[in-house]
Amino acid sequence: MLAIKVPKREAEKVRRKLLELGVLAKGYAVKRDSEFVFFPITKPVKGFELVETEFEKLERRPHSYREVVEVPNKVRPLLPSSFDIIGDIAIIELPEELMEYGKVIGEAILKVHRHIKVVFAKGSKVSGEYRVRELVHLAGENRTETLHRENGIRLKLDVSKVYFSPRLATERMRIFKKAGQGEIVFDMFAGVGPYSILLAKKAKLVFAVDLNPWAVHYLEENVRLNKTSNVIPILGDVRKVAGQVKADRVIMNLPKFSHCFLREAMISAKNGGVIHYYGFAPEEDLFSEHEAKIKAVARELGFRVEVLERRKVRPYAPRQFNIAIDFKVLK
Ligand SMILES: C[S@@+](CC[C@H](N)C(=O)[O-])C[C@H]1O[C@@H](n2cnc3c(N)ncnc32)[C@H](O)[C@@H]1O
Repeated sequence: MLAIKVPKREAEKVRRKLLELGVLAKGYAVKRDSEFVFFPITKPVKGFELVETEFEKLERRPHSYREVVEVPNKVRPLLPSSFDIIGDIAIIELPEELMEYGKVIGEAILKVHRHIKVVFAKGSKVSGEYRVRELVHLAGENRTETLHRENGIRLKLDVSKVYFSPRLATERMRIFKKAGQGEIVFDMFAGVGPYSILLAKKAKLVFAVDLNPWAVHYLEENVRLNKTSNVIPILGDVRKVAGQVKADRVIMNLPKFSHCFLREAMISAKNGGVIHYYGFAPEEDLFSEHEAKIKAVARELGFRVEVLERRKVRPYAPRQFNIAIDFKVLK
């Protein structure tokens, strides 16, 4: 194979030059002896000593489990291109036709992604008051607890007992950037604390409520883990807490049912307080129905609202989106 021979001390400079020219042959290990370095090249380059030599081929590591998994060709197009990773646990959504190949799919994921130790398939949709789903173990260790890192915080959680979506990390960071210093925050549906613990870095106090005892168990653990001193975990129905808190910022991350808790959110906000409302909506009408509900509740309470921002957070189902509306409550 064609190569360039350069003295060792010039090797790094030459490597950069070859990369710049786009002539460095990919997939081969650069060769060295005591004095010289040999770079494999795709065509001759002027000004260098050219030689002919053998190179060891580098084994390319697969990027996706789809490159290594063995399933019949007829179902191959159904293999999902992505899956969620929570700590060292992967959760994949498999169509019915692929469930019988779950074990080989799980093992292929473990082989390609060395940091993943457990693979589950989604066994149901998120459901019930606690917003959890059934999981089917596919491969790796048979455990459901893990430690997830996001936005500079650590979250311990059990994927079978609590709700958690790593896909909301960007949205949480967005809210964090909007938050001011020294605020009182009311996280109405706190889960294991991804909003609460993040916002606690700026807030004076965060009231973090959840109905699920497991969520509050992990929330308390995560408060300790992150050495957070200004989060107050509260186990119970947020309806019982609402109104006792007067917050600068209210987070309503229960998209399926947020509209049922608008009264609670508004009576818990200070005059001028901001509410981050989440919902699900069809692509053709993302905001108007939710906004009508927000305005109707405000009217009943004798308040006014000012919408600050509307946005799509992420796709939720075919032609359905998880949306967010940020609004100010004026009393
Ligand atoms: C969609 S999860 C969001 C959790 C968390 N904010 C997150 O981003 O991971 C909604 C949470 O609300 C809790 N929940 C549902 N109804 C509630 C209620 N009436 N009062 C308090 N918490 C409730 C559920 O247990 C669940 O943990």
